[in-house]
Amino acid sequence: MGLFDGFKRKKDQQAETPFVVVSNVETKEDAPVGASENIQAEDAETVDSSVENVAERTEQAEEQGTDSGTEQADQEISAADSATDDSAEEDESDEVLQEMPSPKATPIKSYSEKAPVTHAIGETKIIAIINQKGGVGKSTTAINLGAALGVQDKAVLVVDLDPQGNTTSGLGVDKGQIQQDVYEILLGEKSAEEVIIPDVCPGLDLIPATINLAGAEVELVNEMARENRLKNALGALRGKYDYIFIDCPPALGLLTVNALVASDKLLIPIQCEFYALEGVTKLLDSMKRVKNVLNPALDTFGVLLTMYDGRTMLARQVAEEVRNFFGSKVFETIIPRTVRLSEAPSFGQPITEYDPKGKGAQAYMNLAKEVINRG
Ligand SMILES: Nc1ncnc2c1ncn2[C@@H]1O[C@H](COP(=O)(O)OP(=O)(O)OP(=O)(O)O)[C@@H](O)[C@H]1O
Ligand SMILES: [Mg+2]
Repeated sequence: MGLFDGFKRKKDQQAETPFVVVSNVETKEDAPVGASENIQAEDAETVDSSVENVAERTEQAEEQGTDSGTEQADQEISAADSATDDSAEEDESDEVLQEMPSPKATPIKSYSEKAPVTHAIGETKIIAIINQKGGVGKSTTAINLGAALGVQDKAVLVVDLDPQGNTTSGLGVDKGQIQQDVYEILLGEKSAEEVIIPDVCPGLDLIPATINLAGAEVELVNEMARENRLKNALGALRGKYDYIFIDCPPALGLLTVNALVASDKLLIPIQCEFYALEGVTKLLDSMKRVKNVLNPALDTFGVLLTMYDGRTMLARQVAEEVRNFFGSKVFETIIPRTVRLSEAPSFGQPITEYDPKGKGAQAYMNLAKEVINRG
């Protein structure tokens, strides 16, 4: 991997974002349907239709033999482009271009090689990081909250339960090198310990995911006690970690149900953007159903405001609306929108390593303190 691969990938990713997200939803078998479920899909349509309008006017102007219509159309296209860029990322005038670190290649060790934990482990809390809405900061939170707790001397395991494997690659693990992942655990072929990659960061272990996991929903359909697979596997790890976080996929299918059954608590990231609360009622309904039938102790641990840009009125309004809805469940710590947080995964590093002094790292360190204080 070259020095600038991280930047290049990020740029490519930004340029393609609306289309990637749309196809992502289409390929998910259990992806939520309907306008309420994916704001990015609507964004893409809006951008497409504004470009279409401009193209129509360009044609009209060409028919009239004038250049001015074309010029105006060009200006509007570039305005539409820059509006898309703005929504994808704000300018970070205080964040200057620094020399980039080399991407991290996390060694894949076996659990028997794990560095010994030197502190007494408290009661293990299993927390699902969950929101069926895509791109709200679930994986970013799994990686960086996990790493921040590791830095604060907690023993943490992150379970990647998303076939996209963003948490796995974001922690520097090469998915091509993985011999077994969470999929084998769900099928009952491996124990959790056999799959854990220890010490991906100080204090942080990982159960990785690869695209294999995409088949798990279908393969589990006819299996007995299929909703309990993850619970049984992670239950065997109680007493070995302070926190186990499960990074959920953006859907409410069998994988997410496994996470809801396995967890003690839920951490719900909410992006400070328009339609932030959409789909939350559906998520809370799913939580209630699982609570009634399969996991009576399940409760909300906290709601996390993510990608907050305090310069916009919208972000402030969304934050207020979320606080009105969830009250004291909302963490005091708000995760700011920062370029560094979006760059870090392409270097395979949590923000605590990639930019330890930046405001993203500071926010996740503060969140870790709040999580510890919530008990
Ligand atoms: N605070 C932040 N500031 C800037 N970019 C962020 C921030 N948090 C997340 N991102 C970026 O936003 C995108 C979506 O974040 P992330 O992958 O964590 O969301 P997700 O909820 O896990 O998505 P999915 O539903 O697809 O699993 C990523 O490109 C990530 O790098
Ligand atoms: Mg994710």
